[in-house]
Amino acid sequence: MKKWFAVIGNPISHSLSPEMHETWLKQMNVDATYIPIHVELDHLEQAVESLKLLGCSGWNVTVPFKEAIIPYLDEVDDSAKGIGAVNTVVKTLDNKYVGYNTDGLGFINSLGRLLPEYNILIIGAGGAARGIAHALKKQGFTHLTIANRTVEKARVLAEELKAGQAVTLEVAENTLSKFDVIVQTTPLGMKNSDASLPIQLHQLKENAIVADIVYNPLVTPLIEEAKKYNVRTINGLGMLVHQGALAFSYWNGVNPDTDGMIQQLIDQLGGNYVNR
Ligand code: ATR
Repeated sequence: MKKWFAVIGNPISHSLSPEMHETWLKQMNVDATYIPIHVELDHLEQAVESLKLLGCSGWNVTVPFKEAIIPYLDEVDDSAKGIGAVNTVVKTLDNKYVGYNTDGLGFINSLGRLLPEYNILIIGAGGAARGIAHALKKQGFTHLTIANRTVEKARVLAEELKAGQAVTLEVAENTLSKFDVIVQTTPLGMKNSDASLPIQLHQLKENAIVADIVYNPLVTPLIEEAKKYNVRTINGLGMLVHQGALAFSYWNGVNPDTDGMIQQLIDQLGGNYVNR
């Protein structure tokens, strides 16, 4: 039977995943299709049962169902258990549906080679920050600092990780020269949101890496500011593509082309895509 994959979410029409996966399926000669499915907020359980019943080969899960889907799956992998959120569901050979989280590792893969001794500053302590922080710890990065507007939430995350410390945004800004990698996970800079910077970059270390998980616009105010310091900047498109590539490899057993996909999306979305 032809395989089929899906992404469920609400809203879902603007998701870039169908196009990304369809392109990869063609490139890798996999006889399958990938479709977006809009799920009503109170119909998640029925939707999951239907996907199982119809033999879906695997699916992605996006906002707002990443946490809520967990009780409806047969098993949850460690990558998703610690974070409490699933973004990829894989059908096993014995027809079980297992939840994974590829967001954090996808983000790390998008950064390229990192040294384990790097000091990493994570700005934000919400769901996205948790996913990235847990994945970083699992990959052996232990010099983690979480900075958040509500510092208590950063403290809770640092304690949960048993690695790293919590600071205020102000302290992060004033001690920025300590950090090799800065990871921006708040919605600041996202289209239609506050365009201010979470922290100023005056004390940015030479050769630091500044990564923003936001990809609409492609050049966020933070990335724009970081470029003035001639450091390496990475936007959220890398995370989107690399989390998708991991899901693709779990489903199909082969690794798709990530660099080509990032370039395809940049070409298609234009310099600063907003109106989608
Ligand atoms: P997500 O799942 O996308 O991470 P979230 O769980 O709602 O979203 O978390 C949003 C994060 O962005 C939080 O760390 C939040 O800070 P608070 O814990 O203080 O709310 C941060 N955030 C949102 N708006 C912000 C703003 N205007 N300035 C600074 N931080 C902000």
